[in-house]
Amino acid sequence: MRIVLLGPPGAGKGTQAIRLAAALNVAHLATGDMLRGEVAAGSDLGKLARGYMDRGDLVPDDVIIGMIKQRLAGAQGMILDGFPRTVPQAEALDRSLEDAGLPLDRVIFFNVDPDELVRRLSSRATCSKCQRPYNLIDAPPGTQGVCDHCGGEVVTREDDRPEAVRHRMEVYQRQTSPVLDYYRDNGRVAEIDGQGTPDEVYERLLAAARD
Ligand code: AP5
Ligand code: MG
Repeated sequence: MRIVLLGPPGAGKGTQAIRLAAALNVAHLATGDMLRGEVAAGSDLGKLARGYMDRGDLVPDDVIIGMIKQRLAGAQGMILDGFPRTVPQAEALDRSLEDAGLPLDRVIFFNVDPDELVRRLSSRATCSKCQRPYNLIDAPPGTQGVCDHCGGEVVTREDDRPEAVRHRMEVYQRQTSPVLDYYRDNGRVAEIDGQGTPDEVYERLLAAARD
């Protein structure tokens, strides 16, 4: 299965992608997680990406496409989370999968009310090691500040500050919502209600993935 999860910041892509990838036994490829890993490692790519990310701007397409190319080639099945988020990225993904003879099966769009997105992001905390998202109100880690999954430190992402969240929403509208139209034109989109508990959303996601 090759599935793209599409939706605005805070829609629940990361939360659901971890679970769906494990259930389908495929790779979870999340460009935001990869970039945060590069920033933490202090690599040249991380140094280049950091300013864009902290402001809530997108990292340039050529950097992202270069970064994900090898990972795409190394996986037959995948859940893509946070990629593609511009039309040129979607076109590059189509070319790369078509070359490999492995087209996308589904694009699943999470529909979530803007006020709920802001509520989720303002209370999110994220593992700095494995990138697992938590919610300090609804679903905190068992021990404060410590990831249940890997023991890493759970911190607030720089781009979850209110100004950066507002900017990310604008960037999503301007640069990423056209990706939804791109896939709709090709008839590949399933839309699910992203509200309700994570378990409820997961049931809808699984149904859409298997449809
Ligand atoms: P990225 O890491 O991809 O961030 P994003 O797209 O803004 O999405 P988020 O991770 O904020 O939200 P999510 O949908 O994963 O929600 P989550 O599951 O965590 O990108 C970060 C930055 O990297 C970008 O701004 C850009 O600079 C750069 N970048 C990355 N990819 C790029 C690309 N392809 N091109 C260019 N630049 C790129 O959930 C959010 C919160 O809600 C959590 O607290 C969670 O616990 C909670 N929650 C989840 N589901 C529910 C639910 N059903 N009910 C209640 N709470 C819930
Ligand atoms: Mg995420």
